[in-house]
Amino acid sequence: MTTQPKPSADRSAEVIRKHKEYIWPAVTNLYKEPLVADRAHMQHVWDLQGRKYLDFFGGILTISVGHTNPKVTSKIKAQVDRLQHTSTLYPTEAIVDLAEKVAQITPGKLQKSFFSNSGTEANEAAILLARMATGAYDVVALRHAYAGGSSLAKSVTGQAPWRKAGVISIGVAHAISPYCYRCPLGLTYPDCGVACANDVENLIQTGTSGHIAAFMAEPIQGVGGFITPPPEYFKIVFNAVKKYGGLFIADEVQTGFGRTGKHWFGIEHWEVIPDIITCAKGMGDGVPIGATVTTSELAGGFQGLTISTFGGNPVTSVAARATIAVIEEEDLLENAHTVGAHFRQGLEALQEKYPVIGDVRGKGLMQALELVKDRKTKEPAPEAANQLLEHTRENGLLIGKGGLYGNVIRLSPMLNISRGDVDEALGLLDKSLAAVRP
Ligand SMILES: Cc1ncc(COP(=O)(O)O)c(C=O)c1O
Repeated sequence: MTTQPKPSADRSAEVIRKHKEYIWPAVTNLYKEPLVADRAHMQHVWDLQGRKYLDFFGGILTISVGHTNPKVTSKIKAQVDRLQHTSTLYPTEAIVDLAEKVAQITPGKLQKSFFSNSGTEANEAAILLARMATGAYDVVALRHAYAGGSSLAKSVTGQAPWRKAGVISIGVAHAISPYCYRCPLGLTYPDCGVACANDVENLIQTGTSGHIAAFMAEPIQGVGGFITPPPEYFKIVFNAVKKYGGLFIADEVQTGFGRTGKHWFGIEHWEVIPDIITCAKGMGDGVPIGATVTTSELAGGFQGLTISTFGGNPVTSVAARATIAVIEEEDLLENAHTVGAHFRQGLEALQEKYPVIGDVRGKGLMQALELVKDRKTKEPAPEAANQLLEHTRENGLLIGKGGLYGNVIRLSPMLNISRGDVDEALGLLDKSLAAVRP
């Protein structure tokens, strides 16, 4: 084994310097002074100065069963030495084992997978297939959505900072987001009658050709700040989508593979069976992988040829298969549910203590705090969010940020997090919130 030089402030500074010099500036880092990650194991990350952190963001909801979990990395290492790449031109045991397992855990008749390398590609494939299979072009998406970095994915995205310069949403109509805390209709749930969901039909009638290819939504809007729709929302929308011939696409890139607790997929909480599910991030515990999963019938509607050179790569496939195995063996759907509920309780207690926390929302181990300057006006407090990020870092806790206004704290530890770790995180959040000057 080669010995690494010791972590140091100089090495850290050198990485920051080179990052500035050679990486696109649009690829931003968190924190005033970027945290240079050096190594990680399970729930902990160490920076290049040797400091240790409890990770409650998991590389943006991607570390689902722990950093460098040996149950996953052992499979990766063995596969690297056996067969690293084939392209999809030759089937492998790795790709079919994963596809078979994905067919077992996805709801309804979703049986056929198209593997790619990212959430963006998974969403691209879903919309392409929906357009081919229905013969329609229009897509209904949601305001506050985030769908990825490609041109089409950006046109589906519903947040200005991610849609700059020439992103054209031809054939994409954006419905009102079910953002109850800031209801765009000025209503209050449940008296509102879920008016946002009922508006989707009118949008289809007025903002599309009346025959749609698909409705695409994240069950919980991730980058949008963990916006969690009310219980009736997706059933109402589903009926409207079906009435106008569309497919229902659940973008499970953040919610997928147990993140929301109890179920494998977030949409299952809303008792809707989608026609297509897209996933990425947490499905591989950190390897680059994406999947677009649909029924046999719809998959057969894809016209012409398609390929993804690295899609279903043997190494990433065994990683995803091993991740699913850990979730099953360690009963992590249940852990995400029960430990998530414990976490939620603690966050609500913090809300009682700190007026800056306007809203607590999410499901399972996908929980958010929306920070406001004033609980009555709900004026967003992005500066408080930045301060909280800096203070939690100083106190040894990694958290994320999101939301259109940059004022939502996103919390998403690994699914096998313990109550003890959650209590530690709550303590560190408490200490850090006390230092925030709104
Ligand atoms: C809901 C959702 N869909 C799609 C994507 C795009 O995934 P990727 O960055 O892997 O392309 C993201 C990324 O954050 C996401 O949160």
